[in-house]
Amino acid sequence: MREKAISIAEVQPGKLAADIGVGTGFITEGLIQKGLLVIAVDQSEAMLAEMKRKFANIGGIDYRLGEAGRLPIPDEAVDYEFANMYLHHVEFPPKAIEEMVRILKPGGKLVITDLDENTFEFLRDEHHDHWMGFKREEIRQWFTEAGLKNVVVDCVGESCCAQSSYGDEYASISIFVASGEK
Ligand SMILES: C[S@@+](CC[C@H](N)C(=O)[O-])C[C@H]1O[C@@H](n2cnc3c(N)ncnc32)[C@H](O)[C@@H]1O
Repeated sequence: MREKAISIAEVQPGKLAADIGVGTGFITEGLIQKGLLVIAVDQSEAMLAEMKRKFANIGGIDYRLGEAGRLPIPDEAVDYEFANMYLHHVEFPPKAIEEMVRILKPGGKLVITDLDENTFEFLRDEHHDHWMGFKREEIRQWFTEAGLKNVVVDCVGESCCAQSSYGDEYASISIFVASGEK
């Protein structure tokens, strides 16, 4: 999934990317391997601290504490932007997409990988999911309304799996990859 997301953006070494809702740096790791500089944003100090430990000997990462509604990055600053398994956690997904588009340079690319719409309520309680995935059509609409062109929402060909810790429920949810250019 990471390779697919990064290859869709056609990244070039030396350029600047943002990884929003970076967690402990799953996407960032792939970007660094491709020779990019990365601004890593998360609302959680604990996540950023864990990521700093993990990447202690690796340069090229700028860690920033920040929230979906107002990212700590100026307008039109980055060439590429990625957000993996982030969108279903934010309160206002269309606003979060608009904010991600704000920080992209003209010609820059946004790639979001996230869950397709699902019915697994236990993920809300156990994984703090705010949304039970998304319809691909609504993602396409939000990308377009935010001003992106060449919008494509496609299948990654992989699923995200989770076992409920309280019952015997097991979730297997397909993943989409959405991309667009500013
Ligand atoms: C499921 S994790 C995904 C982490 C990472 N992108 C990955 O692929 O492993 C979601 C991350 O988004 C962050 N997050 C959730 N809501 C956020 C918000 N409103 N603003 C900024 N970060 C947020 C969480 O702190 C968490 O690190």
